Amino acid sequence: MSTTYSVTDGVAVISLANPPVNGLGQSTRAGIVDGLNKALADDAVSAVVLTGAGKVFCGGADIREFGTPAAFAEPGLHAVIRAIEASTKPVVAAIHGVVMGGGLELALGCHYRVVVPGVQVSFPEVNIGLIPGGGGTQRMPRVIPVEMTLQMVTSGASVASEKLYKVPGQKLFDRLVDGDLVLGAIAFAKEIAAVRPMPLVRHLLVQASSDPELFNKARAEMAKARKGLISPQRCIDAVEVATQMNIDAGIDRELEIFMDIMVGTQAKAMQHAFFGERAAAKIPDVPDNTPVRDIKRVAVIGAGTMGGGITMCFLNAGIPVTLLEMKQEAIDRGVGVIRKNYEAQVAKGKLAQDKYDARMALLQTTLSYDDIAQADMVIEAVFEDFGVKSQVFTKLDQIMKAGAILASNTSTLDVDKIAEVTQRPSDVVGLHFFSPANVMRLLEVVRSKHTAKDVMATVMQVAKKIKKVAVVSGVCDGFIGNRMFEPYTRQAFFLVQEGATVQQVDKAAEAFGFAMGPFRVGDLAGNDIGWAIRKRRAIERPDVIYSKVGDAICELGRFGQKVGKGWYDYEAGKREPVPSAEVQAVIDKVRADKGITARAISDDEIVSRLVLAMVNEGAQILEEGIANKASDIDMVYLTGYGFPLVWGGPMLYADLMGLPKVVEKMKQFAANPNDDQAFWQPAPLLVTLASEGKTFTGVKL
Ligand SMILES: NC(=O)c1ccc[n+]([C@@H]2O[C@H](COP(=O)([O-])OP(=O)(O)OC[C@H]3O[C@@H](n4cnc5c(N)ncnc54)[C@H](O)[C@@H]3O)[C@@H](O)[C@H]2O)c1
Repeated sequence: MSTTYSVTDGVAVISLANPPVNGLGQSTRAGIVDGLNKALADDAVSAVVLTGAGKVFCGGADIREFGTPAAFAEPGLHAVIRAIEASTKPVVAAIHGVVMGGGLELALGCHYRVVVPGVQVSFPEVNIGLIPGGGGTQRMPRVIPVEMTLQMVTSGASVASEKLYKVPGQKLFDRLVDGDLVLGAIAFAKEIAAVRPMPLVRHLLVQASSDPELFNKARAEMAKARKGLISPQRCIDAVEVATQMNIDAGIDRELEIFMDIMVGTQAKAMQHAFFGERAAAKIPDVPDNTPVRDIKRVAVIGAGTMGGGITMCFLNAGIPVTLLEMKQEAIDRGVGVIRKNYEAQVAKGKLAQDKYDARMALLQTTLSYDDIAQADMVIEAVFEDFGVKSQVFTKLDQIMKAGAILASNTSTLDVDKIAEVTQRPSDVVGLHFFSPANVMRLLEVVRSKHTAKDVMATVMQVAKKIKKVAVVSGVCDGFIGNRMFEPYTRQAFFLVQEGATVQQVDKAAEAFGFAMGPFRVGDLAGNDIGWAIRKRRAIERPDVIYSKVGDAICELGRFGQKVGKGWYDYEAGKREPVPSAEVQAVIDKVRADKGITARAISDDEIVSRLVLAMVNEGAQILEEGIANKASDIDMVYLTGYGFPLVWGGPMLYADLMGLPKVVEKMKQFAANPNDDQAFWQPAPLLVTLASEGKTFTGVKL
């Protein structure tokens, strides 16, 4: 039983005891009912306090039970709440730390709720593709205004208990306790023990809104803010039900919506992302108890685009940084950009002035390596040139204290070789941040063949501190993300060469859910970057074939937004892409030179070719062990490349399509003489999984 039971002063105390968050697993649920029955049978008990052991009241469903029969084993959460509501002795929820989802629904089923300040109160279900399914959408608008309920249920964000306590007319919390919660709750329970009839949330009226358009406005807002997501819409439907039906009919309807949405693709995708983020922190051969190095002070080399953003990540986390450059002008420019970024946040009210000052006070700058020698970790972000980087690492090797971690932010260079420049290759690791580094959540941690396990454990922990989603990648050209992006872009080129227009490809990708189509991304990032990579690859990988369209537009200087023209034209000072006749003429010429007759290509084919190109590369990445697991690849794409959350990443997309169908489509593409026929041979791992009826991700489909 994951609960404990004791009696103090005539009050029974049932304590949820299911670490880490007192999740409502089957044995916790059974324990609550069992404790309640004991209390009811004991004449010496006049009231019951329900609380949580450890740091929190209850974090909701036990995620370890997801997808297992235990999740549905009796007593279910509804049955537990019914038992509490039927109790002839009052039940007081005593709440601290966190009260989330099912935990909040449990508390709403109690007769009274007492709380300490600083508790995080939330319904996070929307973020895993669900709605609250334990009566939350029906009981919550009976204790706080329906507008606030809507806000909480659709955002999943937590609200502080003291803030909710101050809401006029609220009936969520009966008392705000200062000091010892359980003692306070016992005292409260004794005060109300004899009060009859006992209050229940189900007997209250919904705190209705005066705005008849409330729900429609919320629907429109969510359609914009959380485009393509079903769960926020269904959350709104469920809260609206509370205003239309009686509580029992409302609870039934909520459960119907919950069951319907739970079996859908989006819920699977969002849960895959939720678990994938946590799983990414685990490295198979680096156990959780691996000792970590203490990182108190960081140095960053290079105050350019990346160095500045990386510096901000550490300052934001309260970790002091020394920023090293070659010249004072470069420091002044870099620090100026950091200041400008922070000042914009202050102006928007997103950062308090004193926090800004505190962050800047953690920053030191220098032109001398002597000043960084004592740093615990140094991150190099100088020019992408092996000669320059090897000079920097040689110097670091000479001066850095023993045990310091030496990291490189390289996007394309071989981290094994960078490590070998030093006498301490096991201290070297790649930390591939994405631009803007202070904003993007993804961090590829590039593990060289030399990197020590404790270095890996340490950087994974540091990544968490600076709020990044760290995904481990082995050493290869492009690591996980850029390596898979390359065949995606190559397909975009083949598609326009074959007859699709630039706009059609972008629109199809955007309708699928990408934030931007491949050509708009090219224009934003700079088409010259890919051009340089293609020139290098022409020597290193002559087997990889490209349509000439990419080179042809670069030969015209169409490098993208920064020069006002790329795959699209741009009016001065505007970012709106305008279709370009010049680009179309270039594409038509490349096509004619190849002797290809343009054909109409469906949006469906466009999306399949773009996404399955990533999938085939992803399968090879898995097979080579560059990624440890399919969900790691999906996390890279969800957090670094704007892949639509509703599909859960490229590998889950393939699983949802069905791997036999994926193989079949690739074979069709391989039969197209105007496509990259060699590339479309399905990767051996994909063929094996498909033939064995398995999936990449292991998600139950
Ligand atoms: N820009 C991106 O989107 C991006 C993304 C991920 C990784 N990266 C990688 O990050 C690194 C830096 O890229 P960036 O875009 O910030 O370049 P950048 O040109 O904006 O900045 C490089 C900075 O390094 C400084 N520098 C050069 N040599 C130095 C030396 N020997 N000692 C000290 N400082 C030196 C330069 O003065 C300059 O300020 C590269 O390896 C790049 O591949 C870039």
